[in-house]
Amino acid sequence: MVRHFIDLFDINAAEAADLLDRASSLKREERHGDRPQLLAGRTLGLVFDKPSLRTRVSFEAAITQLGGNALFLNGKDVGMGVRESVADFARVISQYVDALAVRTFSQTTIEELARFATIPIINALSDSSHPCQALADLLTVREALGGLSGLKFVFVGDGNNVARSLAKASAFFGVRFVLACPPGYEYPAEFVSRFAASNPETPLTIEHDPRAAVAGADMVYTDVWASMGQEDEVESRKAVFEPYRVDSALLALARPGAIFLHCLPARRGEEVTDEVLDGPSSLVVPQAANRLHFQKALLAWLLIDNMAEADGPMARTFP
Ligand code: CP
Ligand code: NVA
Repeated sequence: MVRHFIDLFDINAAEAADLLDRASSLKREERHGDRPQLLAGRTLGLVFDKPSLRTRVSFEAAITQLGGNALFLNGKDVGMGVRESVADFARVISQYVDALAVRTFSQTTIEELARFATIPIINALSDSSHPCQALADLLTVREALGGLSGLKFVFVGDGNNVARSLAKASAFFGVRFVLACPPGYEYPAEFVSRFAASNPETPLTIEHDPRAAVAGADMVYTDVWASMGQEDEVESRKAVFEPYRVDSALLALARPGAIFLHCLPARRGEEVTDEVLDGPSSLVVPQAANRLHFQKALLAWLLIDNMAEADGPMARTFP
């Protein structure tokens, strides 16, 4: 059966841990100049309806380093769901590429693709989740702090795609995750109920006072106040989120030695000051680098470990 990676609700804690371990070992090999050609001759398609630097380039580099190649498709050109139905698009693209990474607005579109595709579909960010980001971020924290279990993470911002995926990823590793947000900007109800169903033992902690939230944190994270697709809310959100800017005074409340992460791109001076972003606690550049290593592990997992013989290329045309 083809496995997809469209949401962290689709994998379990052991699989998440295996992905991080594999990413670490591929990273070590890379450091020693070794790039195992695990995916020689394979093609990763990328369909992006939103802009990207990190996700696009790290996926293209990842498949290339593993011996395969990438095919980038601008969402506007292929017109998935516009020029033809998502189902037809999924069935046809499955004949040409071995896996497809998709960045779009609605999670439902990605789910629909996964339903009709006969190749692995990877969520490269939707309005509701960013699973590749979250697991790569946990790799960064594990490297920096030596472990994950028992740590406290604080996400200062709204309950957006990155926050939701980080909350779910944290639950896999016994991390206490706190969302510090203005009232009215918590997680959507649908996420809260899905999380509760899959993690009945783990509370989804919300704190409206950013100072109280950050106290004792091992990792402080923030993201833009208005995500892609929320451009018309940029101005209105600025006023609401002003008290939630991560500056040196806020970060000083975290545990000594705490680290700062941001998925990037950042709006400097809004959600985070230059002083924090460029300061000694900030690991945003190695964090961005880990997207590459995590995604190499993900591609190997999807295209080697989870690809049974029956799902090979012939199965696409003659199921
Ligand atoms: N963090 C992240 O996903 O960056 P891009 O939007 O540049 O891909
Ligand atoms: N929340 C941001 C993340 C960008 C990587 C957005 O969706 O725009």
